[in-house]
Amino acid sequence: HKKLDDFPKDFLWGAASAAYQIEGGYDADGKGASVWDNFTKIPGKTFEGTNGDVAVDHYNRYKEDVKLMADMGLKAYRFSVSWSRILPEGTGEINEAGLLFYENLIDELNKNHIEPVLTLYHWDIPQALQDKYNGWESRQVIEDFDTYARVLFERFKDKVKYWVSFNEQNVFTAMGYRWEAHPPSIPDVKKMFEANHIINLANAKAINSFHEIVPDGMIGPSFGYGPMYAFDCDPENVLAELNGEEFQNHWWLDVYIHGKYPKVTFKHLDRLGIAPTIEEGDLALLQSAKPDFLGVNYYHGGTVRANEIERPMEKEEADLEKSFEATDPYLMKPKDEQAQSPETMMFTNVNNPYLEKTAWGWEIDPVGIRIALRRLQNRYDIPMMITENGLGAYDELTDDKRVEDDYRIEYLKTHVEEIQKAITDGVDLIGYCAWSFTDLLSWLNGYKKRYGFVYIDRDEYSEKNLERIPKKSYYWYKKVIETNGREL
Ligand code: BG6
Repeated sequence: HKKLDDFPKDFLWGAASAAYQIEGGYDADGKGASVWDNFTKIPGKTFEGTNGDVAVDHYNRYKEDVKLMADMGLKAYRFSVSWSRILPEGTGEINEAGLLFYENLIDELNKNHIEPVLTLYHWDIPQALQDKYNGWESRQVIEDFDTYARVLFERFKDKVKYWVSFNEQNVFTAMGYRWEAHPPSIPDVKKMFEANHIINLANAKAINSFHEIVPDGMIGPSFGYGPMYAFDCDPENVLAELNGEEFQNHWWLDVYIHGKYPKVTFKHLDRLGIAPTIEEGDLALLQSAKPDFLGVNYYHGGTVRANEIERPMEKEEADLEKSFEATDPYLMKPKDEQAQSPETMMFTNVNNPYLEKTAWGWEIDPVGIRIALRRLQNRYDIPMMITENGLGAYDELTDDKRVEDDYRIEYLKTHVEEIQKAITDGVDLIGYCAWSFTDLLSWLNGYKKRYGFVYIDRDEYSEKNLERIPKKSYYWYKKVIETNGREL
């Protein structure tokens, strides 16, 4: 038993959010529509048809929200900027009122000594660009995204030090181009890999612009990282783990950090006819852009075994797999059995019998966050920030307006303990942003699935009064921050 290191002196104890999930004000002060404004209006797409028109009304109540952050002692607040608030058409005319909203928010944070962590893109591309050229499918978006990013870099270069380029590129491309769960809801893996490559180029170009305009700042993507485990030590399953880790993780991370695609996966996709088109100059651009840190969103990992085609499953394993598939929408099999499945011959996702799950079927795996940080430190060796981690749960507001969310405290405590162990191991971690500060709109699950330290009194059916009510976990985290993690 080694003694644990203290958290670094300037450790960024934070919390996170995303524009569409909290702001509301969907058409306020000249804002243009994003793809999410329209997608949520399509019947059947979200739980009870919830949308972000009002969300938790952060657009009008940001001062009250920052006051709650300040009272908690929060050191960092991660939020995203809505592209179509700044450029309603995606390009062209700048909407000064939109910029001003974020400027006021940032000023309020700085005044309260809360480090702003600004995410450029959390899934809400302007609808105008989707209509004009299918958004991420066109190379024109590389230029347009860079123009948008430059507007923010120029305006906030002296006020914001930490920037996140893309949030969970792996998730929004898969949800949008494979599982039909997010816009543009086109099930076509070829398009998914093409769009993904274009996003890589947009990411690289914006990072280069950042280094030119904000030389003292730090920028990096936030990746949705889930460490892969082998089902057991059968070498076939260990090989499947290697495949899973490369296909689900290194496929993005190697590009971000080293500017190149992992060879085995590229060759595999090429054989299937779905590898992205690499044009002249692409790799040079990817290699020229070096992130200053890596944002890591950690919820859970995944367990894999060799694919059925290579080795038939025992009945018990097959049952485990079934129960797994039924619970995790992020890893669903394609609806159409005929759809191309690039995992074929590489690995199959199975249930992990050692782990409990949340009410939404997400594995609860605190040790996994240490494994994640250790693997990433080992392979990429750059500073990291946990940009999301948290528990989605049903919360209950008592008659005397309390939320006793001991389960959330337990979840966060066990994860923070493991990151302290990772730091003690030698991992270079600069901050931890819990997801989320206030309750917010869960993209597909309305307001039932809550993550916040602060309860928002509203549900799917009524905005009620949108009152902010700190939960028990709010006071727990306040203490954690006060003691720099000595009291968990
Ligand atoms: C992450 C996203 O994937 O997971 C967040 O970056 C999201 O925006 C979070 O809210 C939790 O997902 P869900 O589906 O439980 O709301």
